[in-house]
Amino acid sequence: MKKLTVLLSVLVLAMGILAAGCGGGDKGDKKAAAPAPAAKEELIVGTEPSFAPFEFPEKDSKEFTGFDMDLIRAIAKEMGYKKCTIKNMGFDALIPAINTGNLDVAIAGFTITEERKQQVIFSQPYYKSGLAFVVRKDVNDVKSFEDLKGKTVAVQLGTTGALYGEKLKEKGTTLKTFNTSDLACMELKNKGADAVISDLPVLQYFLKNGGSEYAKLVGNPLTAEDYGIVISKKKPELAKDVDKALDALRKNGTYDKLYEKWFGKKPEK
Ligand code: ARG
Repeated sequence: MKKLTVLLSVLVLAMGILAAGCGGGDKGDKKAAAPAPAAKEELIVGTEPSFAPFEFPEKDSKEFTGFDMDLIRAIAKEMGYKKCTIKNMGFDALIPAINTGNLDVAIAGFTITEERKQQVIFSQPYYKSGLAFVVRKDVNDVKSFEDLKGKTVAVQLGTTGALYGEKLKEKGTTLKTFNTSDLACMELKNKGADAVISDLPVLQYFLKNGGSEYAKLVGNPLTAEDYGIVISKKKPELAKDVDKALDALRKNGTYDKLYEKWFGKKPEK
């Protein structure tokens, strides 16, 4: 009888421990599982939309359009997000907003650079670009980058073009920095600048859409640069998922379709 009592109490105790264990485990599981579907609700994207054909305001609409905009919407969809919200910010505010968690990703024709890689994660490269410059049509003594010494050059704040332009400063060039790429080009039109340093595809689009009336492309491209999507270092999983989505869009033809839509040719392989 004594033995039975001991056995019973051991059993009861064991069951109690097991039940407690299960209970705890259960709660833990729920906690781990709950945020997953919630996270798929909305992808918050930052951009600086003065950069056609990558991001710019859509005519007669509050939306932004361009290659980057189409691409990130397709990526969000591929990742299973119900909604993709695009926020307009200063270009130099995008990386800080990624790092404070105000944005999930930023896409803004961002060149992948070593310096930026210290601060954020970049997706795989999604577009081959590079810097170039245009000069005003009436400026005839500029045939190469070196000839920009002593001239006035407009750039956008925080861009690789602005950094490249810094090299000219010691040569007596005046560098004028603007918050948007559009404003830099406007300065050229208004004869406040002799040249604009920016990304080649953006300058080409600008020339094609009215810019050629007062500006022209000079010399060869200055650099070769790759664009990447920006993600916080605190979110390596999100970065992996963006890359996976990009892989899928390349495989299923969506990437090529968007590239052709915006650049009128197939992407270089
Ligand atoms: N590719 C250049 C950079 O990363 C310029 C990007 C400017 N982008 C923009 N949306 N305004 O610095």
